[in-house]
Amino acid sequence: MTHPIIFDTDPGVDDAQAIAIALRHPEIELLGMTTTYGNVDVATATHNALLLAELAGRDIPVAQGAAAPLVKPRHPAPAHIHGANGLGNIALPEVMGKADPRSAAQFIVDTVNARPGEVTLVAVGPVGNLAAALQLDPSITERVKRVVIMGGSIREGGNVTPVAEANMFNDPDAAARALTAGWPLILVGLDVTHRCVLTPEHMARIEAGQGELGRVLADSYAFYRDFYREALGIDGCCPHDSCALAWLLRPELFTTARGHLGVATSGEAEGQTLFAPEGRAFIEPRWSQSPLVDVCLGVDGAAVSDWIADVLA
Ligand code: RIB
Ligand code: CA
Repeated sequence: MTHPIIFDTDPGVDDAQAIAIALRHPEIELLGMTTTYGNVDVATATHNALLLAELAGRDIPVAQGAAAPLVKPRHPAPAHIHGANGLGNIALPEVMGKADPRSAAQFIVDTVNARPGEVTLVAVGPVGNLAAALQLDPSITERVKRVVIMGGSIREGGNVTPVAEANMFNDPDAAARALTAGWPLILVGLDVTHRCVLTPEHMARIEAGQGELGRVLADSYAFYRDFYREALGIDGCCPHDSCALAWLLRPELFTTARGHLGVATSGEAEGQTLFAPEGRAFIEPRWSQSPLVDVCLGVDGAAVSDWIADVLA
């Protein structure tokens, strides 16, 4: 089976690895990429998406989107993790292509409506483009096949605050809309991405298999790896965004639960995802009033990491 997808992204080192999978995997039909600020500013995100497609020899529409959160001020991009250029500060070739003239939100709406019931939205950055698409045409919830969001944390705790994951924290107001829109949604969060480690051995195989694209992935990985060594004490990196595609193509490697999701939009818990399992009664019904969604809780991390390397090797 082939999956037609739109990949919404803020590349970003781990985004770049996932983009390479989306560009190369024979069971993915990459209809386009939409970009957002997050790991970098949105112009850099668009540049990197165009570049990665060109390095893979693919002509893929790239539509630029959100430059800032819906409500809160934008935090500075995490240049210490992804580099100021999003790809580990390595020298990059010139980009020849241009972005699609449409906004990311318009691109999403047009593409989903053109193929009702077929298109999966895979979002691996702050989800402002999803919120904007919902604003533009709320009825896309009935025509999108599925929405896969890399973000949030059910039991794992946060990576940018004690409780919040970066993509949710960067735009909690957009996340609150996207997670409760009533479309078929799965959240692939830190509970699983922190169980996956892309090792230097994996990356050596990827570099050997991907030509010039492999060099960019490997050199940017070297920068990203320093952060993981210092922050988590591991030799390798968590391939967060590739996990969203791993779930799409190899769901049997994950365990999931069904329930209701919410996001704290302000205060100390800003960006925290709140999960109320289906059927569980709490002291008040308010945590169980959003539409039912699925969340990932467990994963065979070694198998997912090997899968990523196998796809790209
Ligand atoms: O928390 C992980 C997410 O935030 C990933 O999408 C990664 O690219 C970072 O920005
Ligand atoms: Ca990302």
